[in-house]
Amino acid sequence: MSGKFVTFEGPDGAGKTTVLNRLLSNLENKLGDRLVTSREPGGNNIAESIRNVILDRENTKMDSRTEALLYAASRRQNIVQTVKPALEKQKLVICDRFLDSSIAYQGGGRMIGESLVYEMNQFATEGFLPDLTIYFDIPVEVGLQRIAKNRKSDDIDRLDVETIDFHKRVHHAYQEIVKNNPKRVKVVDATQSIDDVYSDVVSIMNKYVKKFME
Ligand SMILES: Nc1ncnc2c1ncn2[C@@H]1O[C@H](COP(=O)(O)OP(=O)(O)OP(=O)(O)O)[C@@H](O)[C@H]1O
Ligand SMILES: [Mg+2]
Repeated sequence: MSGKFVTFEGPDGAGKTTVLNRLLSNLENKLGDRLVTSREPGGNNIAESIRNVILDRENTKMDSRTEALLYAASRRQNIVQTVKPALEKQKLVICDRFLDSSIAYQGGGRMIGESLVYEMNQFATEGFLPDLTIYFDIPVEVGLQRIAKNRKSDDIDRLDVETIDFHKRVHHAYQEIVKNNPKRVKVVDATQSIDDVYSDVVSIMNKYVKKFME
């Protein structure tokens, strides 16, 4: 497979989707159908249906392990149906969140344990990992403030109503992922302006997925 698989990771409100959208609109013309985008949970019909179950605010009885299994199921479908076929055709695939999110949110946030969530996901991923992960580094409070400032209340999903402690555990788990995967995970300072974060992301992509950026 000579395509490249890039994932965006980081806490809520870090600016992943904002920067991804800007990147897509700038790469679209150049790459055409060599550019594929996806998001987690979701990315295709089956995975989007799983997404709706996960994020539905009515699902207050969702067990943590059920949630982790649903994310893994959605991920599996995304890999098999969308990501791998695109990589085989030498495309650039950029995904908004991936496995690291499960490790941070279910492993850390929900306290299932990072290594257990990682192990469970091996069934879904068969060891498949991104070529490059860009981590949007931001203090928990700053991310949550951005969301609170910009979102209408009826946009809030089940995961948005978590406590600050939950988000702190997520953040801590992410820091460990960054520390333990220095080759794959590159960090941007997401507290900067959108323009500056965007330009840091482009610099990283210029370096690590060069052939798609030239
Ligand atoms: N660098 C920035 N400075 C100030 N505001 C920002 C910045 N980046 C994004 N925002 C704003 O913060 C809010 C959250 O951004 P965005 O949805 O891109 O975050 P996200 O990382 O995708 O979050 P989530 O994980 O919840 O999807 C948006 O309203 C966005 O306009
Ligand atoms: Mg987002």
